[in-house]
Amino acid sequence: MSRVVVTGRVPDAALEKLRAEHEVDAWAGPESIGREELLRRVAGADAIVSLLTERVDGELLDAAGPQLKVVSNVAVGYDNINVPACTERGIVATNTPGVLTEATADIAFGLILMATRRLGEGERLIRAGQAWKWGMFFLLGSSLQGKTLGVVGMGGIGQATARRAKAFGMDIVYQSRSEIDPAIAAELGARRVDLDELLTVSDVISLHCPYGPATHHLIGAEQLSAMKSSTYLVNTARGPIVDEAALAAALREGVIAGAGLDVFEHEPKVHPELLDLENVTLVPHLGSATVETRTAMAVLAADNALAVLRGEQPPTPIG
Ligand code: GLV
Repeated sequence: MSRVVVTGRVPDAALEKLRAEHEVDAWAGPESIGREELLRRVAGADAIVSLLTERVDGELLDAAGPQLKVVSNVAVGYDNINVPACTERGIVATNTPGVLTEATADIAFGLILMATRRLGEGERLIRAGQAWKWGMFFLLGSSLQGKTLGVVGMGGIGQATARRAKAFGMDIVYQSRSEIDPAIAAELGARRVDLDELLTVSDVISLHCPYGPATHHLIGAEQLSAMKSSTYLVNTARGPIVDEAALAAALREGVIAGAGLDVFEHEPKVHPELLDLENVTLVPHLGSATVETRTAMAVLAADNALAVLRGEQPPTPIG
């Protein structure tokens, strides 16, 4: 029997799987586990099932000890994990791709609709008790039909967002490290372009690339200025891909029309200027937040950890 440390609350289905084979120490506090507590608890762990709110670095791996075999992240993004530090120590790192694709694309498209149709503004207006009545020019937004969606990062979530956009009558361009499956590109009518072209031709830009040194502030003041003043930016990937201060300035000055954000540069903080702007929709990192998806993520993370502890290949290793 091995010792598995779970760094935060996860659905019971995953805990039951882990408990059937191993001794499980799962943090059950309402708040995230503190760093000191985490460093203490991981001592002697053979597996760590980590949430994206926990930083898994050399210090944490060393605090666990040389018996640690696997770090299983309950997220598709793994910017919280120092993967080279795992590899150097012979520790397998895994994530949860696939199972959260549709839920995250739903939120991306939800934000596209909220931003372009000013739904947040309308909701705030009613809740504030402001007087209103139907009017020809009241809260006019922007239609999606015939417009162009630019997808930055055309992996599974980018493709699922593009599929929704196509159903709404949009044209698709995308920027990605590699060409996508030609059959999918044909189905979506999606054209691969470089980032510069994407920024200038898109009416809506949705970010779906991983976060790392190469994508830190990929969208900053210069890229925002390259966009049309009628363009909307949506980010459901990771906050620091966008320079939040530059975005707030661009939204305030009308450099772009609006934005929808599910992720923030310094989560859970939100740039104070964004809070005062009407043309940005802000939601608190809900991309994968459905009962079904969170359960599937946690169960996949459990399966990854269990496979490594059995000496088998995990279903979804990183890299
Ligand atoms: C959520 O943000 C994830 O990366 O799974």
